[in-house]
Amino acid sequence: MEFSIKAASPEKLKTDCLILARSSDGEAGPQFAATDAASQGLLGKLCLRDLDDKAGSLLALPTLPGVTAERVLVVSLGKRAELNAKTLRTALLAVGKWLSNSKAKSAAFAATDLVAAGLELPASLRSATTLLADTAYRFEAIKAKAEDKPAGPAKLDFILQGKSDSAAKRAVEQGAAIAAGQALARDLGNLPANYCTPSTLADTAKSLAREYKLKLKVFDREGIEELGMGSFLSVAQGTREEPRFIVLEYKGGKAKEAPVVLVGKGVTFDSGGISLKPGEGMDEMKFDMCGAASVLGIFRTVAKLGLPINLVGLIPATENLPSGTAVKPGDVVTSLSGQTIEILNTDAEGRLILCDALTYAEQFKPACVVDIATLTGACIIALGHHTSGLLANDDALAAELLAAGQNAGDRAWQLPLFDEYQEQLKSNFADIANIGGRPAGSITAACFLSRFTKAYKWAHLDIAGTAWKSGADKGATGRPVPLLAEFLLQRAGQ
Ligand code: BES
Ligand code: MN
Ligand code: ZN
Repeated sequence: MEFSIKAASPEKLKTDCLILARSSDGEAGPQFAATDAASQGLLGKLCLRDLDDKAGSLLALPTLPGVTAERVLVVSLGKRAELNAKTLRTALLAVGKWLSNSKAKSAAFAATDLVAAGLELPASLRSATTLLADTAYRFEAIKAKAEDKPAGPAKLDFILQGKSDSAAKRAVEQGAAIAAGQALARDLGNLPANYCTPSTLADTAKSLAREYKLKLKVFDREGIEELGMGSFLSVAQGTREEPRFIVLEYKGGKAKEAPVVLVGKGVTFDSGGISLKPGEGMDEMKFDMCGAASVLGIFRTVAKLGLPINLVGLIPATENLPSGTAVKPGDVVTSLSGQTIEILNTDAEGRLILCDALTYAEQFKPACVVDIATLTGACIIALGHHTSGLLANDDALAAELLAAGQNAGDRAWQLPLFDEYQEQLKSNFADIANIGGRPAGSITAACFLSRFTKAYKWAHLDIAGTAWKSGADKGATGRPVPLLAEFLLQRAGQ
């Protein structure tokens, strides 16, 4: 969807769909009022009769006399006193869903009325752009026959009374860049494992590098061996598919400024390996590279916006398969850090590839490191599908990420990294075991990672429950791209 900002009178617009927002109590905004006046009070009367009070309730009018727009869609913002960024998102989500099922080819959103209702303009425009673009997302890359469902409008104008300021324009740009990053993450996540291999992730990094002039290094199996990543390699040894280690660098900040390093788990298919997973729902383990996808997505966002920060992306990418060459339970491997690891369960493979990438991160002398991983089923038990898990060795960094998630409507919740849990990782045969038993599975997984992150401030996002949806809506969500974008925009002072 293409977005722009326009100054115009809403009632005189030539558009397939005029969208008006109003709170359920108090006075309507000037744009609603102007449209109502043009319809000689019919709009207000119809809303009074048929529009529910709840935020996100819709009233779709196929035509309105006195108004040039082909259709008018009124969305309720709920009670004025309860209006905030979250209720606005609820309202926008309803609008987005309606639009993407409509035959309207263009739309215009009367945005000044949001301000009249008490919302802040730039933040609302950013959030509206991201949400409306995201609800229009479709994945049809590998369907031979495109669906004949309507695709929704190709363009949407935000209508402002008076001149648009540069802050509003920038906000729409930001919102669109976040949606573009999220769409890339969703596309990669949705691709099945026979389409999205470690090489596909590397090729995606390559096209990003070409488009935005980023620095890129890609290591193949031999290169990963030479680096000394024995833990990462042990996961890759069971598959004939070539692993890749991707190092992507964006330099928008001062040369000497310490970078933020993002590390994304890129298991393009997780069968569990010799510790084979049960068959039911195993197809969803194609999503086990969503951490990597979100890193590539956020690079797209940051590079599009030209943010004045330095950013490094590290992606260890491999399949996890059983075979005659696969790593076995009980095997001991040596990580890049020198620590030896007893692999008690080959299905706890995410931490085995991440630990070597986390050690590799040290050389960048990072301002902080954030890893993003579909790491543990236990995280879904703890937090379900609404909230990502967050664990960190630095409370200020944790607070920053939690706030970013809150602001972006892409929330995380912190779990403790208390020392007591470390004991569950004791091994009789190596420095550390790769599993810590059933209790607190997400915490012991993070404890494992923490053994490799002592040199810097570090946070870990467990997105096992949030990176994709199951059931009728099965598909990647693109989370936590919105959280990460908010985090980096804040760091960039925007
Ligand atoms: N990729 C999985 C985690 C996962 C499972 C994410 C289900 C989303 C849905 C990870 O590699 C894994 O298998 N973890 C194991 C760890 C266990 C063996 C300690 C798990 O969670 O069962
Ligand atoms: Mn696994
Ligand atoms: Zn996994």
